[in-house]
Amino acid sequence: MTSPQTKYFTTPIYYVNGDAHIGTAYTTLAADTLARYWRAQLGPDNVRFLTGTDENSQKTIDAAAAAGLAVGPYLNQMAQRFRDCWDTLGIAYDDFIRTTEPRHHHHARALLQKMYDQGDIYAGEYVGLYCTGCESFLKENELDEHGHCPHHQRPPQQIKEQNYFFRLSKYSDQIIALLEGGLIQPESRKNELLAFVRAGLEDISISREGAQIGISCPWDESHKVYVWTEALINYYSAIADTPHEHFWPSAIHLMGKDITRFHAVIWPALLLSAGLPVPQLVFGHGFFTVDGTKMSKSLGNVIEPLTLSEKYGNDAVRVGLLSAFEFGNDGDFSQQTFHQLYQTKLAGGIGNLFHRVITLVNKYYDGVKPTTDLPAEVKSHTDTLKATYHRAFTDYKLKTAIDTLFAVVDTANQHLNDTEPWKAFKVDPEATKDIFTVQLHYLTVITELAAPLLPEAHQTMHSILQPDQPTVTPSQILYARLDTPA
Ligand code: MSP
Repeated sequence: MTSPQTKYFTTPIYYVNGDAHIGTAYTTLAADTLARYWRAQLGPDNVRFLTGTDENSQKTIDAAAAAGLAVGPYLNQMAQRFRDCWDTLGIAYDDFIRTTEPRHHHHARALLQKMYDQGDIYAGEYVGLYCTGCESFLKENELDEHGHCPHHQRPPQQIKEQNYFFRLSKYSDQIIALLEGGLIQPESRKNELLAFVRAGLEDISISREGAQIGISCPWDESHKVYVWTEALINYYSAIADTPHEHFWPSAIHLMGKDITRFHAVIWPALLLSAGLPVPQLVFGHGFFTVDGTKMSKSLGNVIEPLTLSEKYGNDAVRVGLLSAFEFGNDGDFSQQTFHQLYQTKLAGGIGNLFHRVITLVNKYYDGVKPTTDLPAEVKSHTDTLKATYHRAFTDYKLKTAIDTLFAVVDTANQHLNDTEPWKAFKVDPEATKDIFTVQLHYLTVITELAAPLLPEAHQTMHSILQPDQPTVTPSQILYARLDTPA
């Protein structure tokens, strides 16, 4: 069913009632890092990376009105702002889908029609509570002590209307089997979802009668498809009927744990109903707080990824976010720790090491790389670290991958301090070549492992080291030390 030869990474498509923020940047950077890694392993043609925007939402209409713009121009402006933000952060997506695009309308309608023809969609009356913040129905027992949506701290709307329903309950056993069979990672998410499905799945409403924006139901044009139902289909719309169609079903859907229920329960059921194979994996990563508190506009602790990147650069934003805690767990992003990481691991660590070694090779040997033998124990140590790094990527342990890269840097720095080639050279320049053989080996390994994690420095390191050439080029500063505090 799944093809190990191809990988199709996706992020959630983000709502456009606000700009990209550090939370959405987290998932998008994780997806980009994984896509970069796997492109190198499988070949660029075997990896695809999709992101985009979820536009057919009531939130959009409200936000456009607040911005004093008509919906169309507002959407164009916001989708462009998302693209610009990802481009500035160095995110190399292969495709960007907007749910207002004709390709998405076409495929969403075609898939829904298949479900309808299958007898899985029926008319009924929906009476219940709806939160426009979540764009989702809520049950009484999901409200907080004030009767409010716990995520948006406001009362849900009472809704009573004619809706179309999807027979989700029919797919319970198949969904349980899929979850048990490894559809979702990490393990904690699997247990949460299995408990939810085993408690009994109800059929779900999939249309809205009065919605002002959205995709019409093909069998009843007076109804709009519920935004979540059609939004999920974006992953398929982006590749269906294109030369990339074979990427289905090798999809690896990355997202925060807030929306795993939609992706690992509802989405596979919709696909089964439409006669399509289910995705390879749903990965629900954790949520982070900022300096110990939930990020919120009212608290004023929202961090803009572009502001961080302006000060520290894109590589720092990437490893700063992805190494704050292990991918899959919840954690905290502390600005102080981030600043420290930049100063010690990037400027003082990898940057300083590279600069020192390359400067010395230029000074002592006119940039000619020494060709003495590499001690076997050095190679075996870096081979072990490389194996840890590759296993980490296979297991989605992005923090472990980053920590392993820094472990090579620490090993190299230790070796440099222990051997003190600047002293050794004065005594025996020829013998000192052994030290530089080891150092250049470390730098080569660091450059290789840094490709998906520090893509900007990787480019520079690669051009300085020139792996296929007998010489190195003059050194460059990879990460300037900052004098300003966090
Ligand atoms: N539009 C829906 C997704 C539809 S997918 C078919 C949506 N959009 S969203 O703009 O609200 O983005 C939610 C996602 O943003 C989360 O699933 C997660 O990927 C990311 N995050 C938002 N805040 C975050 C944190 N504080 N921590 C980690 N991830 C965060 O839901």
